[in-house]
Amino acid sequence: MDQIIVRGNGPLKGEIPITGAKNACLTLMPATLLTDQPLTLTNAPRLSDIRTMTALLQSLGAEVASLQEGQVLTLSSHDLNNHTADYEIVRKMRASILVLGPMLARDGHAIVSLPGGCAIGARPVDLHLKAFEAMGAQLDLRDGYVHAKAPAGGLKGAVIDFPIVSVGATENALLAATLARGTTVIKNAAREPEIVDLAQCLRRMGAHIDGEGTSTITIEGVQTLGGATHPVVTDRIELGTYMLAPAICGGEVECLGGRIDLVAAFCEKLDEAGIDVTETDRGLKVSRKNGRVRAVDVVTEPFPGFPTDLQAQMMALLCTAEGTSVLEEKIFENRFMHAPELIRMGARIDVHGGHATVHGTSKLRGARVMATDLRASVSLILAGLAAEGETVVSRVYHLDRGYEKVVRKLRGVGADIERIKGVTADE
Ligand code: EPZ
Repeated sequence: MDQIIVRGNGPLKGEIPITGAKNACLTLMPATLLTDQPLTLTNAPRLSDIRTMTALLQSLGAEVASLQEGQVLTLSSHDLNNHTADYEIVRKMRASILVLGPMLARDGHAIVSLPGGCAIGARPVDLHLKAFEAMGAQLDLRDGYVHAKAPAGGLKGAVIDFPIVSVGATENALLAATLARGTTVIKNAAREPEIVDLAQCLRRMGAHIDGEGTSTITIEGVQTLGGATHPVVTDRIELGTYMLAPAICGGEVECLGGRIDLVAAFCEKLDEAGIDVTETDRGLKVSRKNGRVRAVDVVTEPFPGFPTDLQAQMMALLCTAEGTSVLEEKIFENRFMHAPELIRMGARIDVHGGHATVHGTSKLRGARVMATDLRASVSLILAGLAAEGETVVSRVYHLDRGYEKVVRKLRGVGADIERIKGVTADE
């Protein structure tokens, strides 16, 4: 399997283009199942997760074609001939559960494998299922699959009051509600930009939606939806990740396409840590003010709070800060697996339950480390950029799920980084 080698190489300078959001694209693609008209997504990221979602939709009978080297996806579900999402695909990517709502809404039945857990947590889907039950669906769990059936007249509009904020459950309920009979009100809805993006795309397809981006989303069901062309919103997690490169190495990098509204809470923490962020007419310019990074405390929360998907990357920065920082991970139960790998690089981190206390050190040292999940993998690369000596990151297939051309983008701003193919399986 491939490895990535990073050598500390001093301050970075230049610009990094930010691509379309993985987590927006993964919820936009299933929207094709709601209509027999063509859906075109532009600014799509070229990632393994997108290829997995493509394979899943094709297994259901949808046609998915990628143009312009994958940046444009054309999708059509004119001839769905299968309503079973198989375990072999679903187990690879949890977002596969997002085909359940659209299939239920349009054709009244679906069989979808339960996704199972993943490295960062149990990741149950009970809230998704409760939403569909509230809309009148009958759900049977058998042999690891959800067998779902809508009432004879189709899903009914309902009031869905989520006990906790769930991005995926909000997206699944939103997708399903567009074709339900009557009004659906989603309370305690997630407010992430990816949900706003989904609502905007569904509206282009003819859906009647109000309140996206707030905690209450109201949907008036319609008989049918049409096609649309929709640009995938900028990836705020990729944006935040690359903003941390000049923060941890010094120098100045402009993230093209970056928008401050997508990363406001994150930018507040960067400012506290002594990192300068300036809005330009092309994106966000990031530089480290003089002196060392200052320690800051971080608590991960649903949007608009500090994103859990930037926690690992922020921890890498804080390992080099002056002072002690405390990171509290409130979204997932096991999202500090990058800590032991950072400790191999000389970081001083104490993890107790959902809290990680980071005692900043002036210098990290390169080491052989192992990526454990998508965001952990890129936090190790950030640490390697600032470390003395060489860092070798293995299991980089995690990285390919969510970061397009990471070596090229970082080399473009002066990083000493390379990817070596097919190393012996020491993984
Ligand atoms: C989405 O996952 C993202 N994935 C995650 O990004 C992100 O970390 C997460 O939202 C939180 O922002 C995609 O969009 C594809 P949740 P999701 O439902 O929808 C619990 C990345 O790195 N929960 O908001 O699965 C759950 O266990 C990935 O790109 C239930 O208990 O997250 C978690 O503790 C990682 N029951 C909390 O809610 C449910 O039915 C938030 O999960 C659903 C969720």
